[in-house]
Amino acid sequence: MKSPQYIGSLLLSLIVMQPFALAAQPLTESVDALELLFGKHAGMRRTQAKGLCANGIFTGTAEGRALSKATAFSGAPLPAMVRFSVGGGNPRASDKSRSTRGLSLKLDLPDGSVWMQANLSAPVYFVKDPADFAPFVRARVPDPATGKPDPERLKAFNLAHPESLRQGKYLAERAAPASYVTTPYWGVNAFVFRSPDNQRRFVRWRFEPDAGEQRLSDEQGAKLPDNFLADELRQRLAKGPASFRFQVQLAEAEDDPNDATQSWPDQRRQVTAGRLVIHSLAEASSCEQVFFNPLALPDGIEPSSDPVLLARPAAYGISFGRRAAERQ
Ligand code: HEM
Repeated sequence: MKSPQYIGSLLLSLIVMQPFALAAQPLTESVDALELLFGKHAGMRRTQAKGLCANGIFTGTAEGRALSKATAFSGAPLPAMVRFSVGGGNPRASDKSRSTRGLSLKLDLPDGSVWMQANLSAPVYFVKDPADFAPFVRARVPDPATGKPDPERLKAFNLAHPESLRQGKYLAERAAPASYVTTPYWGVNAFVFRSPDNQRRFVRWRFEPDAGEQRLSDEQGAKLPDNFLADELRQRLAKGPASFRFQVQLAEAEDDPNDATQSWPDQRRQVTAGRLVIHSLAEASSCEQVFFNPLALPDGIEPSSDPVLLARPAAYGISFGRRAAERQ
């Protein structure tokens, strides 16, 4: 018997995939490239494979309500399905890796609509054009003869795409987060918020941890096992909830909403549009078979024209289709 979440995700993937069918070919290549780099792990996501499910509550603020008419900001506490994850397609990746952490979210809104998000612990992405995704990943596949990526191929890709190095630089300059709830998570792509008086504004959001940003010291890193994040969160939540502020940054006319490799200046107006409280861990069955589609948006939130954002559902659908078939 398949879970209602599984059937829901399958239906959603069929619906969202339809308009993207034409664009799906290069995205099949993207998912193939992830399998080449990380190996094929039956039943697992092709990236952000390692993860856990949690339960939370999202509550919108009056500032959020002023910016978007989405009922997510009504002020009513809304149950949130949450998935935390570790970057890459290896389900046994070390929690100490200086890779991305993910925070995915599904909110069932009072008007019957759904808002899904998949956020990362870096402010920028590594490609601005989805066509660069597969070449970026393939350039990092180790050569079987040396166990390392071909240096010439890597250099050529990096020279042609200097913007693709920003995310890696951000991550390399910081130790891994000490907890899933002590790092900020960015939505990275821009979206449009439509206000109750129908004003459209480009925004970007991030979840800012109330515990502050805490990263592993060298000493902690040496002592902790590779799988410490799940136990850390379990023990932390046994003492009390962990929370994030949902910060929304508003673009100015000169800010590009269609380039995920560039942040907007820090001085841009920011508002706290909501709060996410994580109160317990949840069974793997609650979120592992869900497809967090970043274009599942409620009335009041619209996609930007960022080609990376628009490509995501097709890629996620392909990965979801493969992992679902492997679970049969
Ligand atoms: C063309 C660009 C991109 C491609 C090809 C891509 C590809 C993928 C794939 C194949 C998955 C696995 C989906 C699944 O099996 O459910 C995934 C998951 C994920 N991606 Fe992307 N992605 C892209 C852009 C982004 C961006 C810009 C972000 C920034 C926030 C992001 C954040 C995530 C997160 C957090 C997950 C885990 C979702 C979950 O918990 O289920 N991705 N991505």
